[in-house]
Amino acid sequence: MELKNIILEKECKIAIVTINRPKALNSINSEILKELDIVIDELCEDKEILAVILTGTGKAFVAGADISEMENLNSDEGRRFGILGNKVFRMLENMGKPVIAAVNGFALGGGCELSMACDIRIASSKAKFGQPEVGLGITPGFGGTQRLPRLVGEGMAKELIFSGKVIDAQEALRIGLVNKVVEPEQLMDEVKTLANTMAAQAPIAVKLSKAAISRGMQCDIDSGISYEAEVFAQCFSTEDQKEGMAAFIDKRDKCFKNR
Ligand code: CAA
Repeated sequence: MELKNIILEKECKIAIVTINRPKALNSINSEILKELDIVIDELCEDKEILAVILTGTGKAFVAGADISEMENLNSDEGRRFGILGNKVFRMLENMGKPVIAAVNGFALGGGCELSMACDIRIASSKAKFGQPEVGLGITPGFGGTQRLPRLVGEGMAKELIFSGKVIDAQEALRIGLVNKVVEPEQLMDEVKTLANTMAAQAPIAVKLSKAAISRGMQCDIDSGISYEAEVFAQCFSTEDQKEGMAAFIDKRDKCFKNR
């Protein structure tokens, strides 16, 4: 399938996925979801790519799901749209490599939800966040009711979702929705530096750390600790563990092989 709304670029060990439908502020329709599905699949398979950046063209990251596509949906169609969006966002969230959202502008509704399906959010000082769905007569549909309270706490999530209010990047930083705010012109450099730093670590250890954090956030601490012990053990059967520790002992640069 030809990508009409997404630009996929690869720079050495990192991939940059740009949602590119600026005329509609990169709002997400079914076509974009299908293209994202394909791109995520490709990036999961690509062993050379060790970190992914997600961003948008123009003044929006993503201004939500496409309201013109949703306007006349009935309940069954709404369900299908929500299930498709959630499936794709879960694929993104479950990728075995770090995914960083470079939030360049509006991240509203499905856009805020897309950023929350990423591991880390770095925002431009011009970014705006919110879940304005109730003002359109719907609930957040691509994971907002689930990921927002996990990230910022139940009270703050309820305030944002029930009011539909839009917050700026500094407020998003204050409540823990984003990791860092930078000037717009520094955003991509900042995010690429972070992505490259992650891509320089032992890939299997990064992947297993992500799996342990993700699983641990959804279960009791004893189950989480037991899963951590399992992934910790798995690392000792990798070549990269031998290489990382040998390089430290020998005081030389390490050379990870993703094995
Ligand atoms: N869906 C469809 N089209 C959208 C859109 C969206 N979510 N957001 C913006 N657009 C379109 C506008 O209709 C407009 O198109 P035309 O030029 O053809 O009129 C174009 O993008 C530019 O938008 P504006 O003229 O509105 O730009 P602005 O700078 O004045 O305002 C904005 C920017 C505040 C982001 C405003 O566009 C806006 O409020 N957008 C909708 C945000 C929103 O409600 N998002 C939630 C959607 S529901 C959802 O996401 C459900 C879910 O959880 C799955």
